[in-house]
Amino acid sequence: MKEEQIVKNTATFVRRRLEGEGTGHDWWHAYRVWKMSLAIAKKEGNADLFVVQLGALLHDIADWKFTGGDESVGPRIATEFLKKQKVNDKKIAQVRYIIENVSFKGAGVKSKMKSKEGMIVQDADRLDALGAIGIARTLAYSGYKQREIYNPRIKPEMHNTFAQYKQSKSTAINHFYEKLLLLKKLMNTKTGKDLAQERDAFMREYLNRFYDEWNGKR
Ligand code: ADP
Ligand code: NI
Repeated sequence: MKEEQIVKNTATFVRRRLEGEGTGHDWWHAYRVWKMSLAIAKKEGNADLFVVQLGALLHDIADWKFTGGDESVGPRIATEFLKKQKVNDKKIAQVRYIIENVSFKGAGVKSKMKSKEGMIVQDADRLDALGAIGIARTLAYSGYKQREIYNPRIKPEMHNTFAQYKQSKSTAINHFYEKLLLLKKLMNTKTGKDLAQERDAFMREYLNRFYDEWNGKR
């Protein structure tokens, strides 16, 4: 099968599985990460666009947050699907590596992507956590978890292990400090860094305004 056809089939597979999901890990998130990954890859050069596209499309196929904490489900589903599409083992391993390593695991937890393709997909995924879309996704996810928007008595926590981060029950506003505002410094590619800069600035402006309104200053 042609690579182009496999990418199309993958998009259809992901769309069917994630369509209508309401926490910001839906098909449109996968779609934006796919398009952004391609844009970054083309600008940066030297990446396998087939692996980039499959990794981007499949990266949230079964996120641990929705599998009762099991991180092995996503990579397994993706591998089974790609085998059926007759993708060769080496490329499947490259895609699998991306899915296994793309996620943020806590402020104090080091996680470094080793492949160029992985760095690109991770940057695109992180960009979708920033800016206006990032704010919308954070509030959607927090609501799904029945968490408060903000509570001045609960302070942000910097998690040193993935287990701690996984168990966190913080407010939506705290998530900005526990993850979102840290991403700018963690971007892998020059293209990603530049885009993150602007989205980060917008979120800081949003937070300032949020506190002003909260405190009756506007
Ligand atoms: P990654 O893509 O690094 O795995 P996640 O799936 O953990 O990222 O998060 C994707 C988005 O879901 C976040 O950017 C945020 O908008 C939302 N989200 C995840 N965890 C939380 C949380 N604890 N509180 C609020 N929003 C969250
Ligand atoms: Ni994602």
